[in-house]
Amino acid sequence: MPFPIVGEMADFAREAELRPRGVAAEPLALPSVDPELFRDVAGTFPTGVTVITARAGDGLFGCTANAVTSLSLDPPLMLVCLDRRTNTHPRLIEARAFGINVIEAAPGSEELCLLFAGKSGEKFRGLEYRDGITGAPILAAALSWLECELDRTYDGGDHTIFVGRVVAAEQTKGRLPIVFHRGRFTTVV
Ligand SMILES: Cc1cc2nc3c(=O)[nH]c(=O)nc-3n(C[C@H](O)[C@H](O)[C@H](O)COP(=O)(O)O)c2cc1C
Repeated sequence: MPFPIVGEMADFAREAELRPRGVAAEPLALPSVDPELFRDVAGTFPTGVTVITARAGDGLFGCTANAVTSLSLDPPLMLVCLDRRTNTHPRLIEARAFGINVIEAAPGSEELCLLFAGKSGEKFRGLEYRDGITGAPILAAALSWLECELDRTYDGGDHTIFVGRVVAAEQTKGRLPIVFHRGRFTTVV
């Protein structure tokens, strides 16, 4: 008879099940790019800015993220890359769901992005939000948002790639997104 898997082992088993191995290519034995050059060049690619949110236990968690993209139309999938060292990382696994808030270019938005890029344990205090169907907070500062059920996770170097199946989404019209480019916040016009 198999032993029941309990405690930490159960968490490990659940995480392992969520993290199928990708197919590794045969290495070509090429050198690695200089990390600073890599950071600078990667920063020339402009992105929107999101706040990824989750409700885990009785707490709310969230962080600013721009490593976010739509992945698949059928099924509808989004992809979010989070540093393993963020506090939000384990909470997404715990909640098995998350919200993606696309932040508007508006007064206070830059401060909001920086708040969620920090380590405060009180990021949601005094903030306007409502609960989504997954329990993830949907921020009033979001010009559009998606809610995802966690589908899979993959290893991505010092990050984890979270793939979420989109279960709800909404957009507002006529509001512009905040954009991150070369380490600065800007917008599209
Ligand atoms: C514009 C911007 C984009 C960011 N994008 C990401 C990202 O895609 N993934 C990530 O792990 N961290 C990203 N960060 C850094 C996190 O927001 C930061 O590590 C934060 O402190 C994590 O919060 P937490 O530890 O409370 O979860 C970004 C920061 C900024 C300012």
